[in-house]
Amino acid sequence: MAFVTHNRAMPTLLIVHHTLTGGTLQMAQAAAEGGAAEAGVQVRMLRAQEAGVQDVLAAAGYLFATPENLASMAGVMKDFFDRTYYGALERIEGRPYASMVCAGSDGEGAARQIARIAMGWRLKPVAEPLIVCTHAQTPEAIAAPKRIAEADRERCRALGEALATGLALGIF
Ligand SMILES: Cc1cc2nc3c(=O)[nH]c(=O)nc-3n(C[C@H](O)[C@H](O)[C@H](O)COP(=O)(O)O)c2cc1C
Repeated sequence: MAFVTHNRAMPTLLIVHHTLTGGTLQMAQAAAEGGAAEAGVQVRMLRAQEAGVQDVLAAAGYLFATPENLASMAGVMKDFFDRTYYGALERIEGRPYASMVCAGSDGEGAARQIARIAMGWRLKPVAEPLIVCTHAQTPEAIAAPKRIAEADRERCRALGEALATGLALGIF
């Protein structure tokens, strides 16, 4: 998915996401909806494999959204950080970020990894990691398409809106 809103004069909230069975995508879309409610911010959603260092440099704040796989962030999400880390190092210090993790039952491992990378970038965490558990633990449930409950999508919406509002007001 490309631009939700587009205006180069406004600060951009970049949402980098990956999904295998749709859960993280629904979370990211809800956050993008929340962000788009703030008129003073441009929300840009990019799949992790599409996002590059120029996208990171051009944004004013970030929302990183990943499934948790094998107690880690998804490999595609890690690949995004691997490709962009050194190109953005010392060029994005102090910018705000938050993370969202879609997990079967845990999510803490992926959240910790993102926090560590963001600390290396000297980004500013502006919210606790938002973890949604889909209770998928059997092979069948893991492979099934996910549906994120409205209450959890609302939490994601609120996070996107809070990030966008903070960016628009310059309060981070
Ligand atoms: C290979 C693999 C490993 C997984 N490992 C974990 C895990 O360590 N912890 C966890 O809570 N969920 C784990 N899960 C479950 C996923 O996090 C869960 O299915 C989630 O809904 C995936 O997000 P998605 O729908 O955006 O792809 C794993 C799923 C897969 C496919």
